[in-house]
Amino acid sequence: MADRYGQIIGPDYLVAGRYRLRSKLGGGGMGAVWLAHDRLLDREVAIKQIISTAGMSEFEANRLRENVIREGRVAAKLSHKHAIAVYDVTLEAGEPWLVMEYLPSRSLAKALTVAEHIPPIEIAQIGAQVADALSQAHDAGIVHRDLKPGNILIADRGPDAGVAKVSDFGIASAVGDAQLHDASVITGTPAYLPPEVARGAEPTAASDVFSLGATLYTATEGQPPFGIDTDAEVLITRAAHGQIIPPGRSGVLTDVLLHMLEPSPTRRPTMAQARDELAAVVVGPGGVGQILGHPVRTVDGIIPPWAARQSAVRRQLPPLPPMSPQRLAPAPALQRRPAPTRITDLDSLRDWFRMALANPHQHVLPLTLAGAAAAAAFVTVVTLILTVAR
Ligand SMILES: Nc1ncnc2c1ncn2[C@@H]1O[C@H](COP(=O)(O)OP(=O)(O)OP(=O)(O)O)[C@@H](O)[C@H]1O
Ligand SMILES: [Mg+2]
Repeated sequence: MADRYGQIIGPDYLVAGRYRLRSKLGGGGMGAVWLAHDRLLDREVAIKQIISTAGMSEFEANRLRENVIREGRVAAKLSHKHAIAVYDVTLEAGEPWLVMEYLPSRSLAKALTVAEHIPPIEIAQIGAQVADALSQAHDAGIVHRDLKPGNILIADRGPDAGVAKVSDFGIASAVGDAQLHDASVITGTPAYLPPEVARGAEPTAASDVFSLGATLYTATEGQPPFGIDTDAEVLITRAAHGQIIPPGRSGVLTDVLLHMLEPSPTRRPTMAQARDELAAVVVGPGGVGQILGHPVRTVDGIIPPWAARQSAVRRQLPPLPPMSPQRLAPAPALQRRPAPTRITDLDSLRDWFRMALANPHQHVLPLTLAGAAAAAAFVTVVTLILTVAR
């Protein structure tokens, strides 16, 4: 991979005269994440070229750069122990790069290649930590928009070993806004898309709740809620219908997951409620403080092998509070929570109105017709009332 001046992007490449690339941490081609050395502050950072402006007009490229810098600024305001800190957004050869906290870690996506699926009690702890960070972001008006196993990192060594952090805040939004002149383009990863976003609505805090639910579901079930398909269109269609595969392995987490995966955004918990529901599965109601800031633990009080390297696994931690038989029970045969509601035509209509009102210029004709129909109905009703009154 080379930059626009033909210089190879690889070890020793210097970004913005300050960040010296060392080794690739993940990803591939454009968008790879690198471990780099910040020469100014003499510390290790993770750095990622967000998107290439190659092939864009100068106008579009400038718009993208502005978006990335704006979103980077917003993301940099977030400071939370369960979120990867954004340090800087910088331009190198005209391309935007994001500089962030380096966390020696394994992503949940990678963990799922080590363990096919992860015990619900462990995933509930990861979920509660990430939900706490997201709830703070939502309070600040920031929506993540691309929650998925690849964006949840679990420290695998060092003092933070076993602690989860959410990454890539603001990236989907910056890239999405730059590519979107057209509201019909969908940003996000198809397997974790909430129904309303699959049907064209703007992502909201409630859509993050769904995508986090889908991410946690994938970790316990071993596959995403809409199944696996190489064809993104197929997944988007399934997501649009909101029909998830009923969870079979999620055990004590089943109720919370079904709540987060409600097709109708208004029926989902807020992120703060989801955090508390997830924590309650592990430590009972009101016990979230015993999970936040602590490493994920097995019921025996060790960092699970899927989360950490050998040295960390051996570290004995304070055990979780004693598990009630209910919390240790295998997956119930019958789910207590009723299956999520199906999407009705009324939901679709409401979503469409919300979207149309958010982008009125793109829906002038249907909105005018709907307005005219509403006015006609109003006049008819008033005339009828007056006639009857007389
Ligand atoms: N701040 C970080 N510190 C350490 N490793 C990181 C950091 N950010 C990302 N990584 C590693 O790099 C990998 C690739 O990250 P990247 O964000 O490019 O991919 P992704 O999230 O799987 O997909 P996408 O490119 O769609 O976001 C991650 O899975 C993780 O292992
Ligand atoms: Mg990522």
